[in-house]
Amino acid sequence: MPGLFITFEGPEGSGKSTHSNIVAEQLRARGFEVVRGRDPGGTPTGEAVRDILQHDAAGEPIAPETEILLFAASRAQLVQRVIKPALARGAAVICDRFIDSTTAYQGYGRGFDIERVLGLNEWATGGLNPDVTVLMDLDVGLGFDRIHRRNLDAGQGEDRFEREERSFHERVRAGYLQLAERWPERFHIVKSDESMEIVQAAVWRAVAPLLSHVAGDGHAG
Ligand code: TMP
Repeated sequence: MPGLFITFEGPEGSGKSTHSNIVAEQLRARGFEVVRGRDPGGTPTGEAVRDILQHDAAGEPIAPETEILLFAASRAQLVQRVIKPALARGAAVICDRFIDSTTAYQGYGRGFDIERVLGLNEWATGGLNPDVTVLMDLDVGLGFDRIHRRNLDAGQGEDRFEREERSFHERVRAGYLQLAERWPERFHIVKSDESMEIVQAAVWRAVAPLLSHVAGDGHAG
């Protein structure tokens, strides 16, 4: 596909949306068409699924099998309705979370067989992989400190995943690092406990080399 597909991944509170927003603005300023996505969500159907998954909106416990299929369903809709059309016209797509979240959370976190999860991801996306995945890595405890502050400021409670025990989130983080080892060319690990400027520069170093793929003003520096 002619466009550029960038995903941001990482444990809770690792700064994904802050830094994906910054990259989106940086690319727009350089003349690129930027399409934003979030997973789960990013389409009307996906947002409805997100509500069920994060806030138990259906009012009953969600079985792990249901959970993983709902994530896959939301992603299939996002790929078909948003990501593929944008890439086809040469846009840069920047998505908060994607396939690797399912492998990390449902695979490593919940314990589903990793190869089967990878197969489900591939089926749901038609084999579409990001060109680059920025893994924002952060100590689980620090991430939760950030989440608690954010929830407090927003006057909201924890969502279904934030309520999971610490060991779940430790498995998720370790799982992400294993994925980065498995696909070192796609993954760029950014330590997100540094200053804003250092993290921002590290994220840009991961993204900039790929900019020649997409139509823009061509200034990657
Ligand atoms: P977030 O978009 O605010 O990070 O919230 C999404 C939550 O859903 C987050 O806790 C991670 C979780 N998640 C999964 O468990 N599996 C997935 O495939 C995706 C995309 C997210």
